[in-house]
Amino acid sequence: MNPLRSTFIKSSRVNTRNLLASGSVLGATGSRIGGVRISGMRYYSSEAPKKSGSGGLVFLTLAALGAGAGYYYNSTQSFKTKTLSSSPTYTSTEKKKGIDYQKIYNDIAEMLDDDSTYDDGSYGPVLVRLAWHASGTYDKDTKTGGSNGATMRFAPEANHGANNGLSIARDLMEKIHTKYPEISYGDLWTLAGVCAVQELGGPTIAWRPGREDAFETSCTPDGRLPNAGKKQDHIRDIFYRMGFNDQEIVALAGAHSLGRCHPDRSGFEGPWQEAPTIFSNEYYKAISTRKWVKKNLPNGAWQWVDKNNTEVMMLPAEISMYNDKEFKKYFDLYAKDEEQFFKDFAAVFQKLLELGVPFKGDEKVYHFKRTTE
Ligand code: HEM
Repeated sequence: MNPLRSTFIKSSRVNTRNLLASGSVLGATGSRIGGVRISGMRYYSSEAPKKSGSGGLVFLTLAALGAGAGYYYNSTQSFKTKTLSSSPTYTSTEKKKGIDYQKIYNDIAEMLDDDSTYDDGSYGPVLVRLAWHASGTYDKDTKTGGSNGATMRFAPEANHGANNGLSIARDLMEKIHTKYPEISYGDLWTLAGVCAVQELGGPTIAWRPGREDAFETSCTPDGRLPNAGKKQDHIRDIFYRMGFNDQEIVALAGAHSLGRCHPDRSGFEGPWQEAPTIFSNEYYKAISTRKWVKKNLPNGAWQWVDKNNTEVMMLPAEISMYNDKEFKKYFDLYAKDEEQFFKDFAAVFQKLLELGVPFKGDEKVYHFKRTTE
């Protein structure tokens, strides 16, 4: 790794809140130094792509300030999924008591900016997505799915269209698991989501261990995660099934201040705002203040883009949500009040990661110390 860039990224992780407050990161829209990314096309849901093709994108990123561009396509080819083993990991409570979760947190934090050529320079966003997709399969009526079991390790669930690209995150976590085999995958993946949010400048998320890995037979059926091409009623159906209300759904969506869409994973393209490695309320500010115009994509799908910076996007489902009176009031609330967003996100993200976890009640609650503190 380029040591200069690594230092830059690490220091950017330290100072994300200050940078945001001073406005030095989010300057005029589109005024950043750029990275180049070239990818193929694939859809988000399990449906077959309407058309295949390729797309290119020049985007200006925080991480790219440190050095030159990287090709996403090449960088991911080196990942081989190791997540399809057929046996679960069982760990006795006794053994688990000895696990130093803060140490695991620190190791994950160190890994976040290991590859400055990956996306915007951080693995954080894809780890948050892994934690969410592992948890968001929960069905409150049948009490199935959720982060307990970590069933995305197995082909039937790993291959759900919604999980495209998550082998990158699972393979990263495999390296951590090799070092700490006593932690369950469910605990590890959710801890990684917490770590990524905190290290990228988000609120402290309370976290408890207690997930047990399950067998392939516990894989959830396809279709439990949201389809970004659908409307707000679909989003409500999906999240009400998990047990969330409208405000909680909007608070969770604020995680889209992080990361980006990839043509070869979801079929959509681009980040939600210009600082995709900083956890903030910029997502709400973007959706509520910018002029969004439709853009047809080469794969036959479409998305919304900011009229003044067409590299920034919103999903069809998100603008449908914003146009819904009930949802809109929470988008507007969080756009104005980042403190409220951080407080609500911390609570609702913990709730998401704990859906369906059979806690015994005596688990220690962890509030991890940031590596930047
Ligand atoms: C409202 C329903 C949601 C929809 C329709 C949705 C859809 C999507 C789509 C299409 C992508 C792009 C995937 C890719 O191409 O790489 C994405 C990425 C992402 N999502 Fe969501 N999502 C939703 C809710 C959430 C929630 C609840 C969280 C977490 C709390 C979340 C966190 C993320 C993150 C961090 C990324 C960026 C991943 C990366 O950069 O690799 N999303 N989402």
